[in-house]
Amino acid sequence: MTTTKTTTPVVQLQAITREFAGSVAVDSIDLTVRRGEFTALLGPSGCGKTTTLRMIAGFLPPTSGTILLDGQDATTLPPERRNIGMVFQSYALFPHLTVEKNVAFGLRMRGVPSAEIRTRVAEVLDLVGLAHLAGRKPKELSGGQQQRVALARAVAIRPSVLLLDEPLSNLDARLRVQMRQELLRVQRETGLTAILVTHDQEEALELADNMVILDRGRIVQQGPPREVFRAPATRFVAEFLGYENFLDLPGRGPVTIRPEHIGVLGPDAEPPAGGEVVEATVTAVRFRGTDFAVTAAVGDRTLHAITTDETLRAGASVRLHLPLGQAIPLPGDDGAARLGKNPRQECPA
Ligand SMILES: Nc1ncnc2c1ncn2[C@@H]1O[C@H](COP(=O)(O)OP(=O)(O)OP(=O)(O)O)[C@@H](O)[C@H]1O
Ligand SMILES: [Mg+2]
Repeated sequence: MTTTKTTTPVVQLQAITREFAGSVAVDSIDLTVRRGEFTALLGPSGCGKTTTLRMIAGFLPPTSGTILLDGQDATTLPPERRNIGMVFQSYALFPHLTVEKNVAFGLRMRGVPSAEIRTRVAEVLDLVGLAHLAGRKPKELSGGQQQRVALARAVAIRPSVLLLDEPLSNLDARLRVQMRQELLRVQRETGLTAILVTHDQEEALELADNMVILDRGRIVQQGPPREVFRAPATRFVAEFLGYENFLDLPGRGPVTIRPEHIGVLGPDAEPPAGGEVVEATVTAVRFRGTDFAVTAAVGDRTLHAITTDETLRAGASVRLHLPLGQAIPLPGDDGAARLGKNPRQECPA
């Protein structure tokens, strides 16, 4: 295979491990990020997302492993010699500097001539729609505007990769959705390569070309969001993506069924063909705006379904239709020890 400049990955992590006082925060991660690609790092709190970004940015040396940037070994390169932009969760704007000066900061540090600084700052402020607020101080801005200043500041240096550590988590729901669109637009318009850390699977589904799911320092699954969402490998991944129903089917092993696929049958309703019907007791009904999320007990098991039946109440006896044909297998949880695929299980000695 020939390697050309355009196919050289921007970031390559090879068996990157980071320990803190003997405990492993990041455990032998391999990750490739290509030019123009948006990678989302997801996982529960403490799984190693920020630690991974800090190693890529050069703020934290790995305990072992190799970091390649644009194909060159950069494992021990100091942060200022890596062309990397970073947006932190807290924005980290300089409070005493105007928007314009905040954005210009990285360019000044890099010794860019003042005339060019002026042009570039104007360009990126335009890009994030803040040209008219260039003279304000951060405290005179809304959260969303501050967030855009932080984004503009990181983009201004034209980084070969932009690292975003939960940049949207301080925003309210509406602003978050708006900022997501904004990020996507900036990324498309500038051809930026980005790695986004998020807790939020919806954010990842919307933004990412490659979705990487971490559990306790390890990558447990990665791929295009649709693939990962449609075929989660393990219960951990499925739960993380919001799946709630887990069954062990004789002959098929562990599966998940989406709540919207489970039918809540009225007393006279004829069950659809195929699948299985089980007796259940409704334990909770939660209004979701257009429909209701139903929690029901089937023996000692809990199942989740969606209904539009307004009359359903906790305590009601119902029948649930389980369309087993629509069940999604969780292959990583099935015979995983044998296949050595399930990262949550220790290898047998
Ligand atoms: N400087 C440090 N010293 C000691 N332990 C640390 C340090 N930084 C991180 N850790 C530990 O490493 C693990 C991973 O932390 P990290 O900050 O990468 O998690 P995260 O995935 O970003 O979590 P969150 O979603 O809560 O931000 C955690 O157990 C954390 O306590
Ligand atoms: Mg973090």
